[in-house]
Amino acid sequence: MKNCNPILILIFFVFTFLNGFSQEEAPFSITHGPYLQHLTDNGVIIVWTTNKNAVSWVELAPDDSTHFYLTERPKYYSAVYGFKDVGKLHAVRLENLLPATTYRYRVYSQEVLKHEGTKVQYGTVAATKVYKQDPLEFTTIDQAKKNLSFLIINDIHGNNEMMETLLKQGDYQKSDFIIFNGDMVSDFKSEEQLFGDFMDTAIKLFAREKPMYYARGNHETRGIFANAFPYYFPSPSGKLYYLLRQGPICFVVLDCGEDKPDSDIEYSGIVAFDQYRDAEKAWLEEAFKSKEFTDALYKVAVVHMPPFGGWHGEDEVAQKFVPLLDKAGVDVMFCGHLHQYIKKGPQPGIRFPIVVNANNTVVKAVAEENGMNIKVLNLQGGIVDSMIIQPEK
Ligand SMILES: [Fe+2]
Repeated sequence: MKNCNPILILIFFVFTFLNGFSQEEAPFSITHGPYLQHLTDNGVIIVWTTNKNAVSWVELAPDDSTHFYLTERPKYYSAVYGFKDVGKLHAVRLENLLPATTYRYRVYSQEVLKHEGTKVQYGTVAATKVYKQDPLEFTTIDQAKKNLSFLIINDIHGNNEMMETLLKQGDYQKSDFIIFNGDMVSDFKSEEQLFGDFMDTAIKLFAREKPMYYARGNHETRGIFANAFPYYFPSPSGKLYYLLRQGPICFVVLDCGEDKPDSDIEYSGIVAFDQYRDAEKAWLEEAFKSKEFTDALYKVAVVHMPPFGGWHGEDEVAQKFVPLLDKAGVDVMFCGHLHQYIKKGPQPGIRFPIVVNANNTVVKAVAEENGMNIKVLNLQGGIVDSMIIQPEK
């Protein structure tokens, strides 16, 4: 300590004091979100965060011409096993909604100051605005819809500017939804990093009202905050792999896990992705029997790591997932991970093309009854590649 500059020490203590003071005295508020997760034809999960512990709820109103303040709107709480959740991360699951229906919503949080015995002391309430601005809204999926458009981006690694440019080149406002196909971050260290690296931009642009679906990449599994991922991107099943049926397409969204063997020095003996991918394979075998998959006009696989490249994780995707995807009649597989655009196949043993989107390109797809038109666009909006997938006969 004797060699330290006293001015630097003073600055350190003043900064520490002010930082602690501001955390303590900051008014209760919503800090990030809300954003939509796992929107389906009959439900959605709405997620947001606050700076202090709170109970939370969503108020829902029909999409009519009435003011949100016309009447008391029904409340849906963030709760489990009959108890309202108390915390800083809030996720309200809305169920039994009508399909193809627009709902207006408002999120609320009330600070919980103290909970002792049976007594709870509450603080102030924070909510999204509905007075001088329109309430937020979402529209449940219309499974009878004949046309569907979507974008896929991946390997953003915290580059908000590139993400925004790609979404704009893909004309995200006209797309039905967006898919994040992994490696949106380099690792997860904290909630602030999660939002700062990509989610705040997604929320600013679309995620409050337009759905986003996530296929976890290998980099989302890294860092001290990585095991919080399922709480920020929750699914009704609790799994990070799932089927998503939207009109003519059934998406098979897979979680690839890490790229090196589980025993690699980088993972410090704390991962078990071989076992995880075995469980995923068993789930996949059952999922392919479901009507939502078999009835779909197009079958699209989304997985961050491609089934080639020679690393262990890629080999696992090739050995455990691809034969099943091929047997089930998947039409196209979208990957990322390699940071360059590659298209492979169809090839012997794999009857579908594998499209590896780059970190600086965006997949823009429009599915119609007579074909799914896929374009890959670069940062300038130029067409890198294009293809048409024919519907099942
Ligand atoms: Fe990756």
